[in-house]
Amino acid sequence: MSTNYQRQHRKHHNLTSQRVNQISPSGIRKFFDLLASIEGVISLGVGEPDFTTPWHIREAAINSMEKGYTMYTSNSGMPELRQELSRYLKDNYNLSYSPDDELLITVGVSEGLDLAMRAILDPGDEVIMPDPCYVAYDSCVILAGGKPIMVPTNQENNFEVSAADIKARITDKTKTILIGYPANPTGAVMTREKLSQIAEVARRHNLLVISDEIYARLVYGVEHTCFATLPRIKENTILLGGFSKAYAMTGWRIGYAAANKEIIASMTKIHQYTMMCAPTMAQVAAIEALKLGEPSVLEMVEDYNRRRQVIVKGLNDIGLTCFEPRGAFYAFPSIKGTGMTSEEFAERLLIEQKVAVVPGSAFGQCGEGYVRCCYATSLADIEEALFRMKQFVDKHKMA
Ligand SMILES: Cc1ncc(COP(=O)(O)O)c(C=O)c1O
Repeated sequence: MSTNYQRQHRKHHNLTSQRVNQISPSGIRKFFDLLASIEGVISLGVGEPDFTTPWHIREAAINSMEKGYTMYTSNSGMPELRQELSRYLKDNYNLSYSPDDELLITVGVSEGLDLAMRAILDPGDEVIMPDPCYVAYDSCVILAGGKPIMVPTNQENNFEVSAADIKARITDKTKTILIGYPANPTGAVMTREKLSQIAEVARRHNLLVISDEIYARLVYGVEHTCFATLPRIKENTILLGGFSKAYAMTGWRIGYAAANKEIIASMTKIHQYTMMCAPTMAQVAAIEALKLGEPSVLEMVEDYNRRRQVIVKGLNDIGLTCFEPRGAFYAFPSIKGTGMTSEEFAERLLIEQKVAVVPGSAFGQCGEGYVRCCYATSLADIEEALFRMKQFVDKHKMA
C-alpha cells in the first residue's frame, strides 16, 4: 500500500505531462531572477539588443493602429509582408520562395522552431544538433516527442560542428539536423565550405535541415551563408529567420519560416490552431523594417563590431581565453583557469563584482568551462564590466 506522501506526490506529478516534466526551466531565466534582486549590476546577460527599435519602424506600427488595423490577419501572415519577405530573400540570397505557400509569418523564431519540430517529428525521431547551443533547441525537440542527439563542439575547432561528427550520429531514427549559425552562445560562424559538407551529408541521408538564421545580419568581417543557398539542399531546408536581433525588435514577437510548401502547410496547420496569426502591428512594423530598415541594421552592426573588438581583447587580456566570435553579439570565454564551474563563476562574479554573465552550462554539457558575455550593451558598461572581471579573476586565478 502506498503512503500518504507517495499518493500526494504521484497526484501532484500527474498534473503535468511527462514531456514537460522532462525539460528544465531555462538556465538563463533562473539567473536573471537572482540578478533582479541585486542593485548596480552590469549585465552582459540577456541576449538582446540595447537599441530601441528604429523610429520609422515604430512609427509605421503606430500609424497602422491609428488607422484601426487591429484585426487578425491571414494565418500565414499579411500578403504584403510575405511579398516583401519573398523579395528580401531573392535580393539577399537569390532564393525564390513563393509568398503564397512557401512562407509563414511566425511569432518569432521561437514559434518557428516549435512549429518546425512539431510539423516533422514523430515519436522517437532523432534531431542532431551542436552542443553548446541555444537553450530552446533540445527542449523544443523533447516537447515535440523527439530525441535530441548532441554533437560536441569546442573552442579548439571554433565551436563549428563538423559534417563527419554529424554523420557518425546518424541512425535510422534520424529525421533532421538543427543548426544555428551565427551561433548563440558562442558567436561562431561557419564557412560556406563547411556548411556545404553538412548539406552533402543531409542530402545523402535524405535528412531535413532546420537552419536558425536569426543572427544572419550580425556578422563581422565575414559573410553569412544562408543554408538554403547551398547546392541542391533548398527543398530539404527549413529556414527560420527573424526581426528580433537585426532590427532590435525582440518585444514585437515576429519572425518567419521559409520551406517547401508541404512543410509550410503542416506548420501553418499548427500555427492556425495555436497562434492564429502573428501580431498585426508587428507585421506592419516588419514590412517597414524590410522596406527601409537597412541603414539602421548597418549602423547597429558597426556599433556591435566596435564593442566586440573591445570585449574580446579585454577578456583575453584578463586571461579568460576567448576565440574570436564572428557573428551574433556574444563572446564565449573559457573560465577554466579559475577552477570554478561555469555556474559557480557566474554566481560569484555577480555577487562579488556585480557583473552578470550566463554560465556556459546553460547551453549544454559542452558549454561547461565557459561563460556567455553579451556585448549588446554600451561601451562604457563593457569597459567597467571588464575592469570588475579583472579584479575577480586576479583574486581567484589558480596558481
Ligand atoms: C539562436 C536563437 N534562436 C531563436 C531565438 C528566439 O528569437 P525570437 O525573438 O525571434 O523568438 C533566439 C533568441 O535569443 C536565439 O538566440
